[in-house]
Amino acid sequence: MKHSRFEFDGAEVLVVGASRAGIGAAIARAFQDAGARVAITGAEPEAAPEDRTRFAYTQLDVTDGETVRDFAARRERLDVLVNCAAITARGEEMAPDFFAHVVNVNLHGTFRMAEAFHAQLKAAKGVLVNIASMYATFGSPKNPAYGASKAAVVQLTKSLAIAWAGDGIRVNAVAPGFVVTQQSARSRTDPAHVAAVNLRTPMGRWGQPEDIAGPVLFLASDAAAFMTGTCLAIDGGYSVG
Ligand SMILES: NC(=O)c1ccc[n+]([C@@H]2O[C@H](COP(=O)([O-])OP(=O)(O)OC[C@H]3O[C@@H](n4cnc5c(N)ncnc54)[C@H](O)[C@@H]3O)[C@@H](O)[C@H]2O)c1
Repeated sequence: MKHSRFEFDGAEVLVVGASRAGIGAAIARAFQDAGARVAITGAEPEAAPEDRTRFAYTQLDVTDGETVRDFAARRERLDVLVNCAAITARGEEMAPDFFAHVVNVNLHGTFRMAEAFHAQLKAAKGVLVNIASMYATFGSPKNPAYGASKAAVVQLTKSLAIAWAGDGIRVNAVAPGFVVTQQSARSRTDPAHVAAVNLRTPMGRWGQPEDIAGPVLFLASDAAAFMTGTCLAIDGGYSVG
């Protein structure tokens, strides 16, 4: 995949939640291919093997406010922050404690990272891109915390867009459809579910992590200079079918 229309030469980019060779890693690679200096984080001790020599990596738990603040304080400059860290567990999110944990990672974690890097983004007149989900729109009976947290991420995106427009920071989100990653691995063991997604999706397939990278680079680029507070669906047409 080529992103030759987007140039990020010299830009400092941080992708949070890019350790599992999933969507975050694909976004990080695309920014690097477009000339950016890219750092990544994740919950794991190390990045995925294929990315270990490619990116500076930090293990960072987005639920730990003090560590997040220390991490941000060590970084002088940031042009683009991409919030990708999230969890979900199909069928387990009706348990109130786990529900709260999912919201803590997906929603509070997104806000913690954004708030911690506000000063750097303001100084750079930078860009924040949050990763939502089509479950921000659709009900999700087996993942109620995930759906609620992603709907809130879309709303947070709008609020931060307004709050930080005066600082020159643009804030947008993308809402991926069904994508082949570790996060979707459990649901993909159900052949009926895999087939139902393919059937309902006008483009007839699941997304690959690389499918999400292009729209994120677009939102971070000058091509989207008059866009803030929006959320782009990247779902092969699933949500319009
Ligand atoms: N895979 C899909 O079908 C799909 C669809 C829509 C949206 N998304 C979203 O895309 C983003 C990336 O998902 P993915 O499918 O690549 O998942 P993934 O499981 O491959 O990656 C999730 C990342 O979040 C990190 N993470 C988890 N808990 C964390 C914590 N407490 N602190 C810090 N980091 C933590 C993990 O280390 C990992 O790097 C997520 O926001 C996800 O909700 C995925």
